[in-house]
This record gives sequence, C-alpha cells and structure tokens, in this order.
Amino acid sequence: DASDIEKGTYPHYMLKEIDEQPAVMRKIIQNYQDANGELEIDSDIVSAMNEADRIYIIAAGTSYHAGLVGKQFIERLAQIPVEVHISSEFGYNMPLLSKKPLFIFISQSGETADSRQVLVQVKEMGHKSLTITNVPGSTLSREADHTMLLYAGPEIAVASTKAYTAQLAVLAILAEVTAKSRGMEVSFNLVQELGIVANAMEVLRDSKEEFEMIAREYLSTTRNCFFIGRGIDFYVGLEGALKLKEISYIQAEGFAGGELKHGTIALIEEGTPVVALATQKFVNLSIRGNVKEVVARGANPCIISMDGLNMEDDRFVIPEVHELLTPLISVIPMQLISYYAALHRDCDVDKPRNLAKSVTVE
Ligand code: G6P
Repeated sequence: DASDIEKGTYPHYMLKEIDEQPAVMRKIIQNYQDANGELEIDSDIVSAMNEADRIYIIAAGTSYHAGLVGKQFIERLAQIPVEVHISSEFGYNMPLLSKKPLFIFISQSGETADSRQVLVQVKEMGHKSLTITNVPGSTLSREADHTMLLYAGPEIAVASTKAYTAQLAVLAILAEVTAKSRGMEVSFNLVQELGIVANAMEVLRDSKEEFEMIAREYLSTTRNCFFIGRGIDFYVGLEGALKLKEISYIQAEGFAGGELKHGTIALIEEGTPVVALATQKFVNLSIRGNVKEVVARGANPCIISMDGLNMEDDRFVIPEVHELLTPLISVIPMQLISYYAALHRDCDVDKPRNLAKSVTVE
C-alpha cells in the first residue's frame, strides 16, 4: 500500500511528521525569501493587511490555537488589533465588526466546513479574506481573496503537528513583512531567528527518550492532566492539552496560571500531573508561584522551561530561541509526550477514535 511506503521506517505518521518540523521550517524560509534573502509575501496581501483596521482570525482545533499565537505576532510586530474566533461559534454568534475588517482563515486542510461557512458569510458582506493553508487549491484557498501556503507537505496523522508549527512560522512572516511595510522597527532578524528555531527543533528531535520517560512517569496510568502557562505559554498549553486528549484519551485541560485559584485548583489531587511551561521571562516567577500552589495540593509537576530561565527541578529545558517564537519549540515536548502517552496506553496514534483529519460537516 502506497501510504506504507510514505511512512518509511517510522512506526507512525505522527512521529514522522513531528520529525519533519525542522525541514519544514527551512522550506518555509526558502519559499518566503526574495533574491536578496529578505522575507517577502505577495504585495496584495501586504496591502490587504495595511488597509484593515482590525483582523479577525477564524479557525478550528489546532489551527485555532495557532491563531491565538498569531494574534500576538501581528499585534506586537505590526500593531494591528486582532481577534481570534472559533469558526463554529463565529458563524452563529457574529461579533460587532470593525469598519474595515480583514478575515484570516487558518486551516491545514482548507476544507473545514465550519470555517467555510464563515467565509461564505463574510464574502456576502463584501469583506476581504486571506486563507493560510497547507493545501493549494483547497476550498478555503479557492474561495478567499488571497492564500499563503504552509509548505509542510502532506499531514496524514489526525493529530496536527507540523502544520501547527508551519502556521506559526507563516504567521510570524506575515506579521514581520507587514510591520516593515508600515515602517515599524522589527528588532530582530526573523530569517535568522527561524533558522535558530529549526536548529532547536533538531535538538528536541534527538531527545525523544527524555519525552518517552516523561510520558511513562506522568501519564501511563493517570486519568487526567493539566497544562498551565502564562502569556504565550498559556496558548501552547491549550495545544498540549488538545494533543494529549486527542490521541491518548486522557482528560486534559490547559489553564492560565493566574486563573487556577479561581476554580481549577479544586481539581488537583494527590499525584495529578501538571505540565507547566516557563519560556517567558516576564512571567517566569509567577508561573513558578502557580506550580508551588498546585504542588502544595499534591500535584506532580513537570516544568518545561527555556534555557536561561531554567531552575532546579525543571524536568526539561528547551534551547533558547527568541521569546516571541518559543511556541514553535515548546510545543514539540507537548507533541512527543502525547505521542508516547498514546503509545504506552495502546491507543491508535494516527487514527484516534471519533476523530477525522478534516471535518467537512458543520
Ligand atoms: C479536525 C482535526 C484537527 C484540526 C481541525 C481543524 O478536527 O482533527 O486536528 O485541527 O480539524 O482542521 P483544519 O484543517 O481546518 O486546520
């Protein structure tokens, strides 16, 4: 069967796709670079960004989580306000729109019916749209005014991995090119920083035994698991929780560190695994304070920090990358821990129960 050949020596598509991430990063840099090595995107897209008074990102699942991070990129670099919406909610519960909105659809497949339904609606209203997708010629690509491709190659495993990091890289490029076109200063070289990200991804790819051990230690028998983070780490925690639920069927939730005390902390019992992300300097001490709060209630903490911010007892330290780009790296431990948790629990990693790769019904 042809699909077996494509998997090569890998036991699962998911693991293969996790490992492809550094190569995907390099491919994205290549495809969005001009002859002088500067980042470049279609000038019509840059104009559409500059004409917008507000951006509405519409997506589902993992792509929605990429949108939450993309909002930070666009707001911080290009300084255009961004709202991020779940497509199935937006269609039926449309917020009050700004005067000149630009809609950005993020969709690996380009076929998600909930997202398409929103595109049809906003087109009828006369609004402009951009689709960020992995599939050229997909429905959302054909029907939107503009497309940016992910260049991640086919993603077969139901749980999305390389498409998420590709979405983040493309959103960062969109934000950076737009910022520069508006005369805003970008204090770092994105091509260089994405190169550093690709190298860091390789380091994590070679640390698989560590993540297998973490999965074994924390997740082989637990019935639930929590992910906490602050700022951009919170969004990666949401994606970490989604990965884990999708393929291991462990009940998992992501929370903002500061929100724990407002209810969630009631769920912590003796031995409850809590994965905490610490990649952001300005909240490093406060997230560690949150870890102390859950440990005091019996939690089993697994702190994943970034080099330079690490402290004693951290379970894994990711290589240092630019503070805005940490989600591209910190998600990889989440992907691998989920993968090994599913494996240890004898779950069907590539084809989890009840899920489809692309959902073409509303
Ligand atoms: C399905 C998949 C998810 C995916 C979501 C959105 O539910 O199982 O992995 O994140 O659809 O898919 P899209 O192709 O629009 O990114």
